[in-house]
Amino acid sequence: MGNKPVKIGLIGTGMIAQVMHLPHLFEMPDRFEVTALCDLSPGTVQAVAARFGIRHTFTDYREMLDRADVDAVMVLTRDHAQPATDALRAGKHVFIEKPMCNNLDEADELLDAHAASGRVAMLGHHKIYDPGYLAGRERIRQMQNPNLIRLHDVNGPNDLFLEHYDIVRVDDIDAHEKNRMNQLHQDSLQRAIGAQPEPVLRAYGKMLGLLIHDIYILDAAFGLPERVVSTDIWNGGGAIVSILAYSNSLRCVVETTAVPNLRLFDETMTVYAPDSVVSIVFPSPFLKNAATVVEEWRMNGSRYRESTTTASYEEAFKLELIHFHDCIVNGQTPRTPATTGRAQIALLIDMIRAYRAWGPK
Ligand SMILES: NC(=O)c1ccc[n+]([C@@H]2O[C@H](COP(=O)([O-])OP(=O)(O)OC[C@H]3O[C@@H](n4cnc5c(N)ncnc54)[C@H](O)[C@@H]3O)[C@@H](O)[C@H]2O)c1
Repeated sequence: MGNKPVKIGLIGTGMIAQVMHLPHLFEMPDRFEVTALCDLSPGTVQAVAARFGIRHTFTDYREMLDRADVDAVMVLTRDHAQPATDALRAGKHVFIEKPMCNNLDEADELLDAHAASGRVAMLGHHKIYDPGYLAGRERIRQMQNPNLIRLHDVNGPNDLFLEHYDIVRVDDIDAHEKNRMNQLHQDSLQRAIGAQPEPVLRAYGKMLGLLIHDIYILDAAFGLPERVVSTDIWNGGGAIVSILAYSNSLRCVVETTAVPNLRLFDETMTVYAPDSVVSIVFPSPFLKNAATVVEEWRMNGSRYRESTTTASYEEAFKLELIHFHDCIVNGQTPRTPATTGRAQIALLIDMIRAYRAWGPK
């Protein structure tokens, strides 16, 4: 491929494409050339293409996958498994926004397509590329005998953090197609956890949309837990608490609730050990270049010490794209490979099972 930029096409040109990925791709013309865009909404894809000066637009991604001037594809839709699998089968490298998929059948199909393709399949978990997270993880790895991890993630609606962006949203998808996509989405959730009361389905959706971030940063620091001890779900599925167990006397509490009327972003990973505590405090992902901060409390011999570290203002969403380019062009192995996605979805399903084992029938 030499030094030529990677020719890339986007499937889904909604919020995350417009706010993060397209601006970053255009900031790196040596690495990427955006050759095609696809969205089910004809008005959205046309308007976004006009804004960024992109010639080829599609409403059916399969037509985009036929193009020879698309080497790599970013899947930025709500449901990712089918477009990602099809892109791999068409011989494209793929970047897949989180969550990789909604159920384990989809995971298996996608991983089979990846294994047969010889192409890069990388998951969009930008926090793993965040220098603040990496600095915090370094401190965590130095802790002796941690016994409790607290993953706390409580956010208000995304829109309250997006008011300063000019996002194109055209409501012109054919009603029949919209219903079909919504039905496919519901079916794919049900395939993961079976027929469930509405609040449980909503909780699983929230796990896939939100808590998957926390499960990924947990996995990248500690590996995945051995088992789910318990889960509770209430507040119509908006509130979830799960206790996860590691074999070595370590437990993790994952907690979220809903604050639908508040511009709050409150995501922290805090680790407790007998003589130290480290907390990684994440900003809203939509505040570009806002720093992830590491707070630490520890004993230095007999002296107590508190510190706060701001590792960097680099944008994690941009760093992950630089890594995607390195994987395609220089043969690096993705730090967030698709192969890690299946076990995480399996853990979310176990969290729901733990609730069903004792919760309201
Ligand atoms: N990493 C993060 O922190 C982060 C933050 C926000 C969103 N996301 C992820 O990004 C994805 C998109 O989120 P968003 O907020 O941009 O949603 P969005 O609804 O604004 O945009 C999605 C777009 O995809 C289009 N689309 C859906 N199915 C399609 C298909 N089969 N073919 C072509 N186009 C299709 C829709 O018409 C829509 O325009 C989600 O999966 C979400 O989880 C990640």
